[in-house]
Amino acid sequence: MPEYVTAFAPGRVNLIGEHTDYNEGLALPFAIDAGVEVRAGATGDQRITAFAVDLTEHDSFLLGEEAPSPGGWRGFVRGVSAELVTAGLPVAGASLEIRGSVPRGAGLSSSAALEVALCLALLALSDTDVVPPWPLARICSRVENEWVGAQTGLLDQLASLCGRENAALRIDFHSGVITPVALELGEWRLVTLDSGARHENAQSGYNERRSECAQACAALGIATLRELEPAMLDALEAPLDARARHVFEENARVEAAVEALARGDLAELGVLLDRSHASLRDLYAVSTPAVEATVALLLGAGAAGARVIGGGFGGHVLGLLPPGVEGPPGALEVRPGPGARVLDG
Ligand code: GLA
Repeated sequence: MPEYVTAFAPGRVNLIGEHTDYNEGLALPFAIDAGVEVRAGATGDQRITAFAVDLTEHDSFLLGEEAPSPGGWRGFVRGVSAELVTAGLPVAGASLEIRGSVPRGAGLSSSAALEVALCLALLALSDTDVVPPWPLARICSRVENEWVGAQTGLLDQLASLCGRENAALRIDFHSGVITPVALELGEWRLVTLDSGARHENAQSGYNERRSECAQACAALGIATLRELEPAMLDALEAPLDARARHVFEENARVEAAVEALARGDLAELGVLLDRSHASLRDLYAVSTPAVEATVALLLGAGAAGARVIGGGFGGHVLGLLPPGVEGPPGALEVRPGPGARVLDG
């Protein structure tokens, strides 16, 4: 068994396909360069100690005695260790050092990066064979659902685990098929711009949207919104009809984006980003005034399209800049990078 291991897991940007993952729909995310690094050392006993370097905060607990979860980043560490054990995977005592380069709570999936890096580090320390992406993503998502209280889907964890350089991932959450899609931008650039507002009400708003989708399915007698047909929309009351319409049309926009990328038609990709944003604002109601102002800034600076990314209710906005367009101050370029990995000791 190794004495030390280091694991890195990236955050993600979702190019298009928002709020589709928990509806067994389609999404097109890519992993970014920023992420979370976890260095783990074997302690030889049953204790996990953790140090969040950026926050200068500590935690310490015994394996099997993770609960209660004290909230914040500690809930993720405790949740990951408990859920790995529940899944029948070996976890040994470890001292963990956690460093992050992805902004927290900004819609770039700092939490998924943390969960995935913790999983990989703890598993590598126990010399465990690589666990495939879907089961590992499900373990991480149980951490979000059961330990952190966010009813999130599998988008972020799969993007972090499966990221590829120069490619986005077309993820079909119904069939489970993940297909790399070349993201050849040429002189175009993708940037994110912080709306400045952290999504404090994001968790409750997100959980509410998820429950509205479940209500829509129950009303229609279907298992998931992937089975929705446009004719069914009339049978739904507001706002469930709007939520369901967003999901249906967003799935179609993912397919259209894959086709636009295959043709190298980046102007069309920009149009699709704008349509996705309009739908997230008007039908799914996850935008905020700060997000709208940020979208306007990007478009005003010449972006060919801009949209809120992640769960919404604040966070970062994605913009697609044509060749020669600088973008507003504070815009950070994002490029598709490799997925989560174990680095040398
Ligand atoms: C958050 C969740 C994901 C996904 C997106 C919206 O990032 O963690 O599972 O639902 O919101 O697309």
